[in-house]
Amino acid sequence: MNEQSLSVREAIIQRRSVKNFNGQPVERETLMTVLEDAKWAPNHGNREPWRVVAACGKELADLHTVLREFGVTKWKDLSEDELTKQMKKFTAPGAYAFVIVPEDVRQKERLEDYAAASAYIQNAQLLAWDLGIGSCWKTPPFLDAPKFREALGVKPGERIISMLQLGYFDEMPKARPRKEVDEFVTFFSSNN
Ligand SMILES: Cc1cc2nc3c(=O)[nH]c(=O)nc-3n(C[C@H](O)[C@H](O)[C@H](O)COP(=O)(O)O)c2cc1C
Repeated sequence: MNEQSLSVREAIIQRRSVKNFNGQPVERETLMTVLEDAKWAPNHGNREPWRVVAACGKELADLHTVLREFGVTKWKDLSEDELTKQMKKFTAPGAYAFVIVPEDVRQKERLEDYAAASAYIQNAQLLAWDLGIGSCWKTPPFLDAPKFREALGVKPGERIISMLQLGYFDEMPKARPRKEVDEFVTFFSSNN
């Protein structure tokens, strides 16, 4: 085990969603290690209900073109300068992982699969954090757009549930306060 590794508790508590990546590339090997180790997420029936379309290095330029096309619809009134600024949100991450889940026709299985894939994503975020790589799970509406799905090779019966941006960063994001545990935990009582 890497002596410098964070404890699970430290990783969970310290991880923050990073939105200001510094543009430093994420190596393919590092990305693959994160995506490989994350697969030990719990999942019902060993369905391993996730697949990932990843991009880093040479794939990024083409991905940026696709993302720009979808951003442009929203930013159609922006000047070229403003557009470049907006595009930083897409160009600054060093890697992308689009997480895709099967949409089982059975509701229970579909929910289980979404839950398992979410555990996979959080594993990936924590593993990346332990390597000094920030991430942000994003769900822009264009993930469901037919043309975007087509660009990623998403098949009918599948859904992209996360645009996971990964990358290095210079500033530690601030944590927003969370509720105290006794605000969301009650103990079972037979008087309920
Ligand atoms: C299902 C899901 C969808 C999210 N979608 C977005 C998003 O579209 N854009 C964004 O900036 N952050 C998104 N986030 C990140 C949250 O904003 C972030 O987790 C939250 O602010 C708490 O911050 P923390 O992750 O640093 O604790 C998403 C998180 C989850 C779990």
